[in-house]
Amino acid sequence: MITIRNLRKSYDSNHVLHGIDMDVKAGEFVVMLGLSGAGKSTLLRCINGLNQPDSGQLQVGGIDLMRKHSGRELARHVAMVFQHHNLVPRLSVRKNVLTGRLGQVSTLASVLQFFRRSDIALAEQCLERVGLTHKAGERTQALSGGQMQRVGIARALAQRPQVILADEPVASLDPRTARSVLQYLRDATRELGIAVVCNLHQVDYAREFGDRIVGLSQGRMVFDGAPDQLGDAALNAIYHQVPAMAELQEQHTPMPAGSWMPASPMVATTGGL
Ligand SMILES: Nc1ncnc2c1ncn2[C@@H]1O[C@H](COP(=O)(O)OP(=O)(O)O)[C@@H](O)[C@H]1O
Ligand SMILES: [Mg+2]
Repeated sequence: MITIRNLRKSYDSNHVLHGIDMDVKAGEFVVMLGLSGAGKSTLLRCINGLNQPDSGQLQVGGIDLMRKHSGRELARHVAMVFQHHNLVPRLSVRKNVLTGRLGQVSTLASVLQFFRRSDIALAEQCLERVGLTHKAGERTQALSGGQMQRVGIARALAQRPQVILADEPVASLDPRTARSVLQYLRDATRELGIAVVCNLHQVDYAREFGDRIVGLSQGRMVFDGAPDQLGDAALNAIYHQVPAMAELQEQHTPMPAGSWMPASPMVATTGGL
């Protein structure tokens, strides 16, 4: 579903991605871990066509992103879930989900917010998948943070995408809500055969929800394996020099339990993060 070979991306003199190789299959849930600045968002933005890579190969759902392609066609294949869900608060939950269909209807229909019956039925199905059927008619602003993120997932599902890219989708949620949101995302995408790349900060969620984990450090893939292969050596490679600790505190994330912290000594500096 996604094929990436030797992908490079710079912002002026800042080399952010240094030759990424990655394949993601239909129905696979890949969690991407890495410190702030490692290049995770940049890679997602390449996959959804917002960033133009400098070189390498990048194919998503049969579309070659290194060649001229239709943004509209790509948008039909790839949906995004954001940390701050990007919903319209005053619209109903149902209408927010229906905006996931806007790429697929004519401009006039989208301006008039005219939706086909089949689109409305699809929106209802997507809301059912995230357990929010009973909230369909409510204003989105009345929902809790976790419910809003589930609406964000339903909106992504309503695009009928082959790929969903989630950029820190649970970073603003408490642990219990975060796990529930990830569960909905994983179950829906698995059942529908959607390939997912999900950036996360929490190692324990990565282990619990990822079919596979990739670790990015300074724009290089330093780990690619099954959750049970993510041991101290891998964590050391991903969160080298233990700014992982500072990073986690900066993100206001509760300290992870267990023994995942690398054995190397604390380094006080967080410079460059
Ligand atoms: N639009 C941009 N313009 C210039 N530099 C950027 C832009 N987006 C990201 N960067 C730089 O690219 C590097 C990687 O950032 P990012 O992909 O956001 O990392 P992550 O998501 O892992 O935190 C950082 O050095 C960041 O400053
Ligand atoms: Mg990011």
